[in-house]
Amino acid sequence: MEPLDSRAFYDRVAGVYDQRYAYPPALGLRQALWLAQTFAPGTVLDLGCGTGRILGPLAQAGFSPVGLDCSRAMLHRAHRKTAARLVLADARQGLPFSGNSLDLVISLHATLIHFTGPQELENLLAEVRRVLAPGGALVVELPHPATYPPEPVPGAWREYQTGMRCRSVGPGLEEMSLVEEGGLCTLIRVLRVADIKRLFSGWRRVEMHPGFRGGKFRPDRGEVMVVAAWV
Ligand SMILES: C[S@@+](CC[C@H](N)C(=O)[O-])C[C@H]1O[C@@H](n2cnc3c(N)ncnc32)[C@H](O)[C@@H]1O
Repeated sequence: MEPLDSRAFYDRVAGVYDQRYAYPPALGLRQALWLAQTFAPGTVLDLGCGTGRILGPLAQAGFSPVGLDCSRAMLHRAHRKTAARLVLADARQGLPFSGNSLDLVISLHATLIHFTGPQELENLLAEVRRVLAPGGALVVELPHPATYPPEPVPGAWREYQTGMRCRSVGPGLEEMSLVEEGGLCTLIRVLRVADIKRLFSGWRRVEMHPGFRGGKFRPDRGEVMVVAAWV
């Protein structure tokens, strides 16, 4: 099956996303509380908000959240869960917000792996910097690079997680396929610590965390990689 653009991919997955692929709801509250302890609650953009998992917890934690996603079907589910403002937009085309207008931008559960085209991530980060108010920050949660399985045979399918397979299709690029959705697949970008250092090199301060529980980030092992970067 040919890889789908992320909008088409998530439009197809939206109906089963919460049951099969979303984080458990309780995690949303833990993440929102960590964010409220780390940043003074203000306006926050959830970039790639999906079915709106964390918008309610963010509001509970004192933030004024807005969600943005390119998939109409994912946003349709989000509308049922939250009263927060929701924006249908493809972040690759820019962020539809004025400059210096947001205190915090978050992009969780691996959303940034979907920016696979040349310069797409660089352009997105420039847009995030434009919309953040002075002193504002971006928080990104990505799979820890150690979670990608080794590749004994180049280009062969490997089991990534239960029900999820991936295969390398170019430098830093993988095809990800969902077994339970009949092999529905999309391209993803593998981001390693060196990529993060390069992408965030112009930011005022950058921290790496092993998740939302505290502790020390280890480049060689972990489940997720959380990057907090300040403009
Ligand atoms: C893995 S889901 C994560 C959803 C949510 N952030 C969470 O933590 O549950 C990735 C989401 O990013 C959205 N997305 C991917 N590429 C996007 C883009 N270029 N612009 C806006 N949203 C995008 C998808 O539609 C999908 O809803």
